Amino acid sequence: MRHSTVGIIGAGPAGLVLGNLLLGAGIDCVIIERQSREYCQKRVRAGLLEEPTVSLFRRQGWADRLLAQGLEHNGTELRYLGRRIRLDYGQLVGRTMHVYPQQEVVTDLIEIFLAKGGELHFEVDDAAIYGVDCDRPTLRFAGQERSCDFVAGCDGFFGISRPALGPVDAWDRHHEFGWVAMLAAVGPSTDEIVYALGPDGFAGHMLRSSTVSRFYVQCPPGDVIESWSDDRIWSALQNGLASPGWTLAEGPVIEKSIVDMRSYVVADMRRNRLFLAGDSAHIVPPVGAKGMNLAIVDACVLFDAVRRFLSLGDETGLDAYSSTCLERVWRIQDFSMWMAWMLHTLPEAHPDRSYSLARSHAQLRYLERSRAYQTQFAENYVGFPMPVTV
Ligand code: APR
Repeated sequence: MRHSTVGIIGAGPAGLVLGNLLLGAGIDCVIIERQSREYCQKRVRAGLLEEPTVSLFRRQGWADRLLAQGLEHNGTELRYLGRRIRLDYGQLVGRTMHVYPQQEVVTDLIEIFLAKGGELHFEVDDAAIYGVDCDRPTLRFAGQERSCDFVAGCDGFFGISRPALGPVDAWDRHHEFGWVAMLAAVGPSTDEIVYALGPDGFAGHMLRSSTVSRFYVQCPPGDVIESWSDDRIWSALQNGLASPGWTLAEGPVIEKSIVDMRSYVVADMRRNRLFLAGDSAHIVPPVGAKGMNLAIVDACVLFDAVRRFLSLGDETGLDAYSSTCLERVWRIQDFSMWMAWMLHTLPEAHPDRSYSLARSHAQLRYLERSRAYQTQFAENYVGFPMPVTV
């Protein structure tokens, strides 16, 4: 049976960052991916890179297109009751963010991995993990078996890896709101990302490129996209983002979908030689655009642990993997929920809707005048330094 030191399931941000780090360190690995390369490279997802992520890409030599085509941001804008708060996180904490669509991150990392001779199998629909409690678990895929010293479950929330952990405690919370997500063929009406608490709840103007923009508008949990015509979405955005003297340009809708607002965290991301990384282990509400960055940090922590074990026989990184990752995951859970509650309203019929809205306005007034509160936002929003050095 062929052997790979690390078998990686999933070619999303977690799997591709891990694979490229391993390859760069001369540690052999194999990535198996259920979808086609084309599908992975076109899948519209997140688009905001924290400073630690950008620094990693620079150090690893992966940042050429990111730096050439991405947009570096120093600040963001919050709106409420017609007021506008500009948070200059570049000035507050000395770090910036980059807007760069996730599908471009995935495209770059696939290209780099394959150019280095990495083994990456697309359209694998039969992946299975055996012998999780053995020292060399087996990956079965595409009619072959591969023994591995480690298996990395980077296969997202609906993958096969988390079930392979067996019975695992987890926190799972569905929130009182959802999002209508829309990609439109229109340039941005703002230079920086706008998060707004409008009369009907959250509205967001994200950026993707000079000709395409991403928007979100709050909807009730469990809502369906069929209830949202293009006109209804644009009308909700015009209402939610409204600010005196500012206009929102509209354009043809490329894609629209419903985003379920959920928080999910497993209590342990490891079972023997199987390690979960990214969405397979945790989901955060996308309000702070943290999911991709969290997945990348997990991959870095796992790479560092494997590298230390292979080079020094040191198992401390492996043993601390889950707690190291989950410390950051819970920090981001807290920040994402703080942002979500501040910028969303409860459903119409909810008895606490009025109270919750009044509280959000009080938070936003405090954010508008308090540098300490702004700094708390800024250091969470642009990302804390990585817990490992890679
Ligand atoms: N076999 C092989 N590949 C699989 C399987 C399977 N059984 N199940 C899922 N996959 C693949 C998916 O097709 C996808 O390409 O695993 C990959 C998981 O990628 P992501 O869902 O992007 O997860 P992750 O790398 O953890 O990144 C998390 O990216 O999805 C965005 O913003 C989102 O926060 C999230 C972040």
